[in-house]
Amino acid sequence: MNNITSYIKENKERFLNELQELLKIPSISADSAYSKDVLKTAEVIKISLSKAGCNLVEIHETAGYPIVYGEKIIDPKLPTVLVYGHYDVQPPDPIKLWDSPPFEPVIKKTALHPDGAIFARGACDDKGQMYMHVKALEFMTETDQLPCNVKFMIEGEEEVGSNNLALFVKENRNKLKNDIILISDTGMIANDVPSITTGLRGLSYVEVEITGPNRDLHSGLYGGAVANPINILSKMIASLHDENNHITIPGFYDKVEELSKAERAEMAKAPFSLDEYRKALDIDAVYGEEGYTTNERNSIRPTLDVNGIWGGYIGEGAKTVIASKAYAKISMRLVPNQDWEEITELFSKHFETIAPKGVTVKVTPHHGGQGYVTPIDTIGYQAANKAYTKTFGIPAIPQRSGGSIPIVSLFEEELESKTILMGFGLDSDAIHSPNEHFGVWNYLKGIETIPYFYKYFTEMNRS
Ligand code: BES
Ligand code: MN
Ligand code: MN
Repeated sequence: MNNITSYIKENKERFLNELQELLKIPSISADSAYSKDVLKTAEVIKISLSKAGCNLVEIHETAGYPIVYGEKIIDPKLPTVLVYGHYDVQPPDPIKLWDSPPFEPVIKKTALHPDGAIFARGACDDKGQMYMHVKALEFMTETDQLPCNVKFMIEGEEEVGSNNLALFVKENRNKLKNDIILISDTGMIANDVPSITTGLRGLSYVEVEITGPNRDLHSGLYGGAVANPINILSKMIASLHDENNHITIPGFYDKVEELSKAERAEMAKAPFSLDEYRKALDIDAVYGEEGYTTNERNSIRPTLDVNGIWGGYIGEGAKTVIASKAYAKISMRLVPNQDWEEITELFSKHFETIAPKGVTVKVTPHHGGQGYVTPIDTIGYQAANKAYTKTFGIPAIPQRSGGSIPIVSLFEEELESKTILMGFGLDSDAIHSPNEHFGVWNYLKGIETIPYFYKYFTEMNRS
């Protein structure tokens, strides 16, 4: 890849400005009040893909938000890379905790990003990381160095479960035909410790509703004499973990893949400081399943967490009341071989079983997806590793992530190709949180590394 560093140096300001323009559009897929903005973002992506050199760009309508498709086919005999990313973002709430408005990007220095980081919702997840691929393509077309074919599939519903993308993939197998899928929507260990994500956890997300009496009651007149849905819900949730923090749902662990001692020892080699981890989060101790390390707890082990809980009176002052209903949103992160629909079923049955008389339970599944693991002895992984070695000066460490991109397992099923997860964000970049940011250095390093992946992947396919 000739001139990649000089190309980036010369175009750095423009690369940053273009991304900031994209970040100004509040493409919040979860909130219908922003639907115009989500649609506008798809248009902007379409234009940027055609400017970057795609010779075909299309917007595919779905029952939800559209999918932007672009391609540059230079020779059908050459390999094809399919890039996936998403242009939708999480809601910015709680907005008060942002130091600057979430859709007015600013560049500020941080301890981990001495060259500055772009602060905005979506900076890292995933607009910034997705846009690295657009700029990498621009470089390769502008300098006549695109070594293979490329297809882009950028969706607008990742943060709400990718429901319509699944159908699009099933109906467009031929169009999406590829030799490798490339995604930047994960992270890496540190700027001087490059890593390639080799696993994603699956997910089952449910909402529960506990109903007690048919109306809200005076907590003096009725308190102690009827089941209080909030008390009961708290008790039921607390019972989902035992004293060792194992999940108590019968059958929950039946299919969990247990890693061998050797595999766990290999994992433990990745650089990690428990002290720094605690300090970064301002906690005096970590907490989790007995018998596993922090890095195991957040990658190779399944979990169950309450993501939200509500009911009763939460306004100012005190109101003495026993609410008729209580609610919670619960996520279960799953590991390979656990089936999300089966786990959702096990959860629902168990939650109904443990409810005492005097309340009724309703469980509503939201969305989910299977986990993913990818082997490292493939051309795709080796090409990615060679690209990191070239631009970081050291090889990448394979690492399983705790996050989920549920559609990835479906890609493998439907398109029969492997996915390479080249993430350039840091865990501390605060994705889904207030003050989300993405390092300027990381953004530019991504743009520099991606073209080498294309080069090595094409070369390795030839030999
Ligand atoms: N990009 C994230 C997933 C991610 C982040 C994986 C960092 C690994 C490292 C993605 O946008 C996301 O937030 N996924 C959701 C699931 C989705 C169905 C809403 C998640 O993991 O909670
Ligand atoms: Mn994402
Ligand atoms: Mn996300």
